[in-house]
Amino acid sequence: MAEQATLTVGDQSYTLPIVEGTEHERAVDIGKLRGQSGLITLDDGYGNTGSCVSEITFINGEEGILRYRGYPIDELAEQSTFPETAWLCIFGELPTRAQLSRFSDLMTQNQALHQGLLHHFAGFPPSAHPMGILSAMINAMAAYQPVLMQPEQLDLFEEAAARLISKVRTIAAVSYKTAAGHPVIHPRPDLGYTANLLHMMFSEPYAPYEPDPDVVRALDQIFILHADHEQNCSTSTVRMVGSSQANLYASVAAGVCALWGPLHGGANQKVIQMLTGLQERGESIESFVERVKQDSSVRLMGFGHRVYKNHDPRAQIIKASCDKVLAKLGQEDPLLDMARRLEEVALQDPYFVDRKLYPNVDFYSGIIMRAIGIPVEMFTVMFAIGRMPGWIGHWREVHQNPKARIYRPRQVYNGATQRGYVPMAGRSGK
Ligand code: ACO
Repeated sequence: MAEQATLTVGDQSYTLPIVEGTEHERAVDIGKLRGQSGLITLDDGYGNTGSCVSEITFINGEEGILRYRGYPIDELAEQSTFPETAWLCIFGELPTRAQLSRFSDLMTQNQALHQGLLHHFAGFPPSAHPMGILSAMINAMAAYQPVLMQPEQLDLFEEAAARLISKVRTIAAVSYKTAAGHPVIHPRPDLGYTANLLHMMFSEPYAPYEPDPDVVRALDQIFILHADHEQNCSTSTVRMVGSSQANLYASVAAGVCALWGPLHGGANQKVIQMLTGLQERGESIESFVERVKQDSSVRLMGFGHRVYKNHDPRAQIIKASCDKVLAKLGQEDPLLDMARRLEEVALQDPYFVDRKLYPNVDFYSGIIMRAIGIPVEMFTVMFAIGRMPGWIGHWREVHQNPKARIYRPRQVYNGATQRGYVPMAGRSGK
């Protein structure tokens, strides 16, 4: 007989099925608990709640393991490319040569923006945050491709995926150029995915930017490392929105908004701002670490993770890449020395050791992007570009699930109990 859990409340017992995943993670299925007992489970922040069964990404936070569709992240970072990893995350297998070629061709065919979409950029003030622009533009894209938005049109899904992954890169580059007051640079069909992004960001009409292959590789690797991360805040948001059968663009646009927050994708920007703040104030690493420990409102950005309690495997790969890129570009960034020293001091301090706080993926990625010349406000946009395959794959998984229901959590209400309406004249206060 399949294993079951028993929950005893007073003199009543309830048996609950145990679900086991392919990596032997076990979960108590409480789906019928309320019907049986009137009870719901409460897990503020979802730290202990499995919201779905998924086949895309496996993480073991205790052992620092991350795999997309079974493939270890270090092997993908070393040997794959972003388009190939994107296909893997979305469709479940490494693509054949023909599949990758078709997917790459679809991305190339879809890399330009509709002239109507380009006009939208004029409506944003130069100070607008590029994440807000990205989210708005992804939503606007839906208006230009209604046929690909239907959830049941999965045969057209490949084109929708290629279109989205390709165009977010163009949107990112155009928002950067527009904010800087520079002419928009159009994509080049002869360039690969990441080289094309760098071209659109850094070429000028009479001064083409020739991307260094090592720089292209480092940024491509950043995209691979960000491609998916199971049920994080933004991916859960995409799944939540998608569960209402909202279209792919609307769901992914919501994911961009969730990623924008400083506790999520916004952390890479906050890491650089934290380091430059220390530099400008002339504050020592030791004094800052003390402040973090004393004042709970000050966080060591780029440290800590809900799931990784040993190390973040992405951080180790990014740290090695950071050293390589700076050496290749012949740059010495004092922020890198500060980051290294912060890591060293924090990892010896019982505050961080006891709480299992280690550098996460954001700790060094900002230093690489800074070395490439990407401005700090664009860092989270780079994260969003990388995360597209994961969001798209999860949206597809929600829509392919024959048992899918709209996501609708419950709550424990703790507000005022019923009371009568008080007319204005009877209310206290000003
Ligand atoms: N600096 C200082 N203290 C920290 C940090 C940090 N970066 N992170 C966690 N803590 C402390 C908390 O204050 C808490 O201490 P307490 O037990 O004394 O109250 C304890 O560690 C546990 O922290 P929680 O906030 O409960 O951890 P949670 O899992 O909710 O948060 C998070 C994870 C949001 C990533 C957190 O570690 C954090 O804010 N880090 C800084 C922001 C960051 O780098 N975000 C990027 C995450 S990775 C990503 O999105 C790609």
